[in-house]
Amino acid sequence: MASRRDVLRWGGRSAAWGLPLLAGLPADAKARSCDDPIIAANDRPLKEQAQRRGLLFGAAADRNTLEGNPRYAEAVAAECSMITPENSMKMERLRPAPKAFDFEHADWLVTFAEENGLLVHGHTLVWHLQLPGWLEEVVTKHNAERYLADHIQTVASRYAGRVRSWDVVNEAIEAGDGRGDGLRLSPWLRYLGTDYIELAFHMTRQVELNADLVYNDYGLEYEGDYFEQRRNHVLDLLAGLVAKGVPVDALGIQSHLSGDRQPNFERFARFLDDVRNLGLDIMITELDVRDRKLPADPAERDCRVADTYRAYLDVVLDNPNLRSIAVWGLSDRYSWLTEFEPRNDGKPVRPLPLDGDLKRKPAWHAISNALGG
Ligand code: G3I
Repeated sequence: MASRRDVLRWGGRSAAWGLPLLAGLPADAKARSCDDPIIAANDRPLKEQAQRRGLLFGAAADRNTLEGNPRYAEAVAAECSMITPENSMKMERLRPAPKAFDFEHADWLVTFAEENGLLVHGHTLVWHLQLPGWLEEVVTKHNAERYLADHIQTVASRYAGRVRSWDVVNEAIEAGDGRGDGLRLSPWLRYLGTDYIELAFHMTRQVELNADLVYNDYGLEYEGDYFEQRRNHVLDLLAGLVAKGVPVDALGIQSHLSGDRQPNFERFARFLDDVRNLGLDIMITELDVRDRKLPADPAERDCRVADTYRAYLDVVLDNPNLRSIAVWGLSDRYSWLTEFEPRNDGKPVRPLPLDGDLKRKPAWHAISNALGG
């Protein structure tokens, strides 16, 4: 029986998928005709279709969108089995002052999740961005470990037993910073050296005995030297942590994809096997598909975005260590890309499974099709 990836390699057509598979075809392969819509496997909520494969399906959201739009809150609760706080658990939001914590919005989100039967994926304990403004003035090499431990252990113990998994360290790799190990010159690296990563995992595990502890990063998905270099650095980092017995359970792959790129994920598939061979689980943590460079026509964009969702998910779903798929927002109305990567023509971006009116798009059908395929 050919595996899903074999079919991808052969570029065959699968009746279950109803469209020619682009991945693995020559770069000049003609894009699928958009008159040939991707057929959803069924119309059940994505969480049910994922659960049938033993997977969680989630989305990023926060109080501002959920409380502000009850219909959106209903859609998230209906489609998802897990939720990731988009911003409310980041250090910038939790730490108004060196000796103060503000859990109002994070508590609201965790309570929302529990009231709606959703698990919580915590995001993120250690990152180089969205740090509180006071940090650089207060933290030094001498007190950084105490500050890091205080932050991690106050936050993680508050939500112990209420969070399924944590992005403990986010985006530690940046080859452009010139280090041989590819590590980003994060403030935490400057304060504590390369040990900050394993310290963070140990500090978390000391107070959170059950949640899966995750290393989360981006730029791992496509062909090309940039992605291959990042994959190698991430793999080396993970192999080192595993070899030292650091309590890391999974790799979080952010998966911010681009609809204008050839959806060829063959080397990525081998990378996933390498992660699995380290004994680590795989979580897709921030999935969306940029349409910034796609034609203006919404139908054409939706089609190309859906193709990317399908081709990518066919690869990740082929790996037995996949545990969850989460999109970075459920509706086009609430995508970070609106602010960070707007289209030059000013048209609203369309990267997510539901449109601005919460209607299912071809991307939703593509996710269903991949889960059902
Ligand atoms: O809430 C304030 C608002 O009160 C204020 O008026 C406004 C004016 O600037 O800012 C608002 O906060 C913004 C926040 O999003 C909520 O919308 C911040 O400025 C803005 O920086 C923040 O952006 C977030 C971004 O991370 C920061 O780097 C995005 O929402 C969030 O989706 C994005 O998520 C990251 C992941 O955490 C890590 N992986 C990449 C991903 C995309 O960048």
